[in-house]
Amino acid sequence: MKRDLLTILDLTTAEILALLARAAELKAWHRQGRDPKPLAGKTLALIFDKPSTRTRVSFEAGIAHLGGSSIYLGRNDSQLSRNEPVADTARVLARYVDGIIIRTYGHEIVEEMSRFASIPVINGLTDSHHPCQVLSDLLTIQERFGRVTDLKIAWLGDGNNMANSWITAALRLDFALALACPPGYEPDARLLALAQKASRPIYLGNDPVAAVQGAQVINTDVWASMGQEEEAQERLQVFYPFQVSSDLLRQAPPEVVVLHCLPAHRGEEITEEVLEGPQSLVWDQAENRLHLQKALLEWLVG
Ligand code: CP
Ligand code: NVA
Repeated sequence: MKRDLLTILDLTTAEILALLARAAELKAWHRQGRDPKPLAGKTLALIFDKPSTRTRVSFEAGIAHLGGSSIYLGRNDSQLSRNEPVADTARVLARYVDGIIIRTYGHEIVEEMSRFASIPVINGLTDSHHPCQVLSDLLTIQERFGRVTDLKIAWLGDGNNMANSWITAALRLDFALALACPPGYEPDARLLALAQKASRPIYLGNDPVAAVQGAQVINTDVWASMGQEEEAQERLQVFYPFQVSSDLLRQAPPEVVVLHCLPAHRGEEITEEVLEGPQSLVWDQAENRLHLQKALLEWLVG
């Protein structure tokens, strides 16, 4: 049976740990110039309704490293832009290619793609989830701390797709997640209810200092995500207290690291000083998209 990655909840704990281990191995092998070729003869379609630097390029490069090829379909490139149903597109693409990577708005679009495509579907970001990013971030955390459990991870700012994906990760792995979001900008209530039901150490509040106290990792992201451009101005006022600054970092232990999935807005959710400072892992974090996704592609499509 084909498998998809629409959210991190599609994976078991063991599968996440196996992906992280394999990604670390593939990273080392890539540095030695010996990429395996499990995608030889395979083709993936990339359907992108929103812009992307990291997701697109890391997937296309990773597919090439693994011996496969990719077909990029931007916003206006397929008949989806002229309202051909997702279900029809999914069934047709499955006759041509071996997997679909899709970045779009509503999460229901990737769910429909997955229902109708007989091939693996990978979520390259929706309004609700960004699983590939958070899995890659776990790789970055594993590299730094040697583990992805027994940590406190803080999320500051918008309760957006990234925040939701962090909650799904915390539902699968044993780390504490402290989210500090302004009132009215909380993550998905259904995920928080799941967390509560499972008695997971997932805490939502609106005090950034409390969130970072005792934390090994501080995460943030833009205050207005793709599709929310019109709200950007009003969000600035609401979100300023959640800015990741040097002052805030001083409230956390000295070993704390800062992650940001990028693109970053310097002076908004993160200061220039922190983003470019010694506690920032953002460039390794961006690189790890490549290695984690190669492990994912090998497993789902190879
Ligand atoms: N972090 C991330 O997904 O970046 P892109 O929007 O550039 O793909
Ligand atoms: N939350 C951001 C992430 C960008 C990678 C967005 O959806 O625009």
